[in-house]
This record gives sequence, structure tokens and C-alpha cells, in this order.
Amino acid sequence: MKLAELKEQFLHDLAEAKSAEAREELRTKYLGRKQGLITNFQKSVDMRAMSVEARKEFGKLFNQLKELAENAFAGKTAGEAAGDIRPEIDLTMPVSAMAPGSLHPVSLVQLELEQLFTDMGFMVDSGYEVETEFNNFDGPNIPKDHPAREAQDTFWLTNGLLLRTHTTANQVRVMRRFGAPLRAIFPGRCFRAENLDASHENTFYQLEGLMIDKNITIANLIAVMKTLLSGVFHKEVTVRLRPGFFPFTEPGFELDIECLICGGSGCPTCKRSGWVELLPCGLIHPNVLKNGLIDPNEYSGFAFGVGLTRLAMMKYGISDIRYLNGGDIRVLSQFPAML
Ligand code: DAH
Repeated sequence: MKLAELKEQFLHDLAEAKSAEAREELRTKYLGRKQGLITNFQKSVDMRAMSVEARKEFGKLFNQLKELAENAFAGKTAGEAAGDIRPEIDLTMPVSAMAPGSLHPVSLVQLELEQLFTDMGFMVDSGYEVETEFNNFDGPNIPKDHPAREAQDTFWLTNGLLLRTHTTANQVRVMRRFGAPLRAIFPGRCFRAENLDASHENTFYQLEGLMIDKNITIANLIAVMKTLLSGVFHKEVTVRLRPGFFPFTEPGFELDIECLICGGSGCPTCKRSGWVELLPCGLIHPNVLKNGLIDPNEYSGFAFGVGLTRLAMMKYGISDIRYLNGGDIRVLSQFPAML
């Protein structure tokens, strides 16, 4: 028998087979492993007698026929549109239980803060991890000879760009783009050439924020910082405000919280001081406003840069920063899958 005849015969039989039993019988007849007419067809053909061309052609046609038959018994004929539902798939079957993933603790605090700040009318702009020297250093008023610019503190790329060392790098860009008044937060990943220990990583997350308007004062800054802290911790935390120096603020402050890992008694995370520097902040230096093309005589603003990694450690009582970046599923699966 020729292949074409076998196909004819198969299609004819298929058209006749109306019941499920008849079709099953047909399946054995054509596709059965031992006797199946299609399965065993090749045995009846002397392939060696064929030319290479003919063998190729035969192989193609044979595979087509086999596929046609297999599809026919899978519930659809070759020409029928895909998408018809196979009877053996039971759509009402319950899915098997799956362990849902969870959000990383740093993502959780980031999302929480994004929610809190967008509710207060702040926009969210994550900026860029690869930055210019201008945005990272000059724009924020960091002097040319500042040690932070050196290679042991900053990852410089060979093309003269750098990995941002702080989200402050986004301040001047956003000021130039949107002008004043302005309320914005910049969550994102920052990089520093640090040695690793319980509280330092060379990759960490910050969330920067700024608010610029007429008559912004320290009172506005303190009010927003209080809202931030109560929004994250949902409980009273003991804070202290110290003067802090940052080239991009005037005046600048360090807002510390009592260490929530040890309750203030001293541990490696707080370097045994009982306090953790959490929220550096201040009024924006007039030079930075100028660099952002905003008139410091007309507008003033405050800014802050909270370490999200440290915030997550305090919020969830994680004693070592390396747990957060280690990717250990036993740590990460303890956190919820959504806010
Ligand atoms: N950029 C600073 C850092 O990475 C943090 C900072 C301090 C940001 C004071 C600010 C600020 O916006 O006002 O250490």
C-alpha cells in the first residue's frame, strides 16, 4: 500500500467512526504500537531503495499523516481550529496548593512609604542607578575635593559615569524637570565601595524625599518626618535630633531612633550605642535649589534620605544586613506577599 492510500483509508474510516468506542478501535488500528497501520507503515517500505530526495519527501508525508492521526484522536482533526477544549482537561478541578511568593522586606517598607507619600501629594521618581558626576556630586553641592568622590568610596564606570552613591543624585534632575512647587520621593538602589559588616553593604536602598514651596520651614520637615515614622512603625519610637552636616542641606539634621533590635542597650547593629542613624534630613541648601534652576529667594524646601534597608531591619527586627541581601528563602518566606 502506498502512503497516500493509507491516508485515504484512514480519513474514510475516521469519518465513519461516530462513537467513542469506534474511535478508540480506530486508534488501535492505526496508531497501536504493535499492529498499528500507521505506526508500522515504515516497516513495509524499503527505504534503502529510495533516493535521498524521495526519502526526505516520504519522511515528511509520513510525519504529517502521523500527526494528523494523533491530533484526530486528541479530540481535533488536523484542520480544526486550535483552542477547542480537550475532553480530558477538567476545568473544574481545583488547582494544587502552591506556596505563594512573598515581598522582600525592603520592598514592603518601600511600598508602604510610597503609599504614605503619594497620599500626601508626592510624586514617585526612582531616577537612575547609573548617574553623572554632576547629578551625584556637583548638583548636590558636594565640593570637588570631597573624599566621597574617590574611587575607594564610589564605583566609577570606565566611561566617566558612576553608580549613584545616594538617591540625592535625583534631586537636581527632578527640580530642573518639574520646577517649584514640588513634592517628590525617589526610592532606589545605591552603591558604595564599602567593606561588608553587620550594618554595611555595598548595595543598599534609600528613599529620598523633598518638598519645595514658598515658606517651607523646619516645622514642615518635622511634621512630615513624624508622619513617616508613625506610618512605618505603627508605634511610638524614641527619636533624637542632632545637628548633621551635609553639603546639600542648610541646616542639616540627623534623626536617630532608639535601636529596635536591642531596645537601646547596645548591639552590633547600632554599634553598641543604642541609637541608629535613620533619617538624615535638612533644609535644602540654596546652592542646590540654584543648581535645580529654582530661585532660593522665592522658594525653600526640605529634603531627607532614609535608608530603606536599615528601616526594614528596624521595623522587622533583623539584626544583620546580610540576611536581607542573602536571598535565603527561610528568611524571605516569613514576610507577607502583599501590603
Ligand atoms: N544623601 C545622604 C546619604 O546618602 C542622605 C541625605 C541626608 C539625604 C540629608 C538628604 C538630606 O536629602 O537632606 O548619606
